[in-house]
Amino acid sequence: MIGLFERLARPFLHALDPEDAHSLTIKMLACAPLPRAAGDDKCLAVRAFGLNFPNPIGMAAGFDKNAEVPDALLRLGFGFVEAGTVTPLPQRGNPRPRVFRLNADRGVINRLGFNSQGAEAVLRRLAARANAGGIVGINIGANKDAADRVADYVRLIERFAPVASYVTINISSPNTPGLRNLQQAEALDDLLARVIDARERVTRRAGPTPVLLKIAPDLSLAELDDVVGIARARRVDGMIVGNTTLTRPANLRETGKAKEAGGLSGRPLLPLATRMLAETYVRVEGAFPLIGVGGIDSGTAALGKIRAGASLIQLYSALVFRGLGLVAEIKSALIAALESDSLDNLSELVGADAAAVTAEAWPG
Ligand SMILES: Cc1cc2nc3c(=O)[nH]c(=O)nc-3n(C[C@H](O)[C@H](O)[C@H](O)COP(=O)(O)O)c2cc1C
Repeated sequence: MIGLFERLARPFLHALDPEDAHSLTIKMLACAPLPRAAGDDKCLAVRAFGLNFPNPIGMAAGFDKNAEVPDALLRLGFGFVEAGTVTPLPQRGNPRPRVFRLNADRGVINRLGFNSQGAEAVLRRLAARANAGGIVGINIGANKDAADRVADYVRLIERFAPVASYVTINISSPNTPGLRNLQQAEALDDLLARVIDARERVTRRAGPTPVLLKIAPDLSLAELDDVVGIARARRVDGMIVGNTTLTRPANLRETGKAKEAGGLSGRPLLPLATRMLAETYVRVEGAFPLIGVGGIDSGTAALGKIRAGASLIQLYSALVFRGLGLVAEIKSALIAALESDSLDNLSELVGADAAAVTAEAWPG
């Protein structure tokens, strides 16, 4: 049903400004009477961060920034949903237009700049569904004008840890000036020390909530050494690799739109994001699981992420071009891959190609 509806709706949505099309999609999901998703094959189940995921495919942050439709997305077959990025106070983000489709490249450039309804509104929605089941994490960010950005993260951890399955510290959006500086060693160590401390305080009354760190794919390998070292020392529960890229691969076909400022996602991001995932995996040495995100638009790409080191994956941009049927397609491809190798579970494939990927020429 939803597949047919989507096929009919997609040409119409693509005729709209990308942001208008997105708002309309959220409104449709909010009121669509969706049946509960069929149970997943148990070979797709993943245990990570102390949570049981029915399948490894997550909706990436940025799609449901204000936690308006997490349960609709779970019903559509996602194994988990990451709402956000939410900021403490509401903010409008950058002036429009600020989202661009690179159709020929199957890519997206966005410079939204953390448009958020703010913590109050998002907290109310997550609290209302806190007992509904299903894994719904929240991705948190600092307000653009915050005097003390670290204090923003601490405040958000304290507020959201009791109502979210996990919390992601987003210090990798390219669209809030200076935010990525929090990935530098000294700043990151201070941030994580205070964030983990806040999580421990909340744990005493609300139980443990995993804290994940989402990084940019644009870090140098020396910077990645520092980031992973600090994440391990501060005992984060996992990392997400990664956010959108400020780089522009030389082979982009939409050369005009490629000049728009902002973060690039979708198919053109796949090689860089997968390389950074493998580089992260070999540095983490099994200390915690990784979520691989960036450019997944097929079963093959999803399997490539898992083999490069991802225990779980997330996607966003490919849904614009491929629609929600992609989720079922990826599940079938993963099940087929397990059957052809006579394996019981995806965990046996995680990181199988990581060393090989890190030995390849750097993606250009
Ligand atoms: C329009 C748009 C908005 C996004 N907003 C956020 C966000 O608020 N927070 C965040 O951590 N990532 C955000 N992202 C990044 C995605 O979560 C993801 O890391 C990135 O797009 C790569 O995955 P993809 O190639 O499957 O889209 C956004 C991406 C897009 C395309």
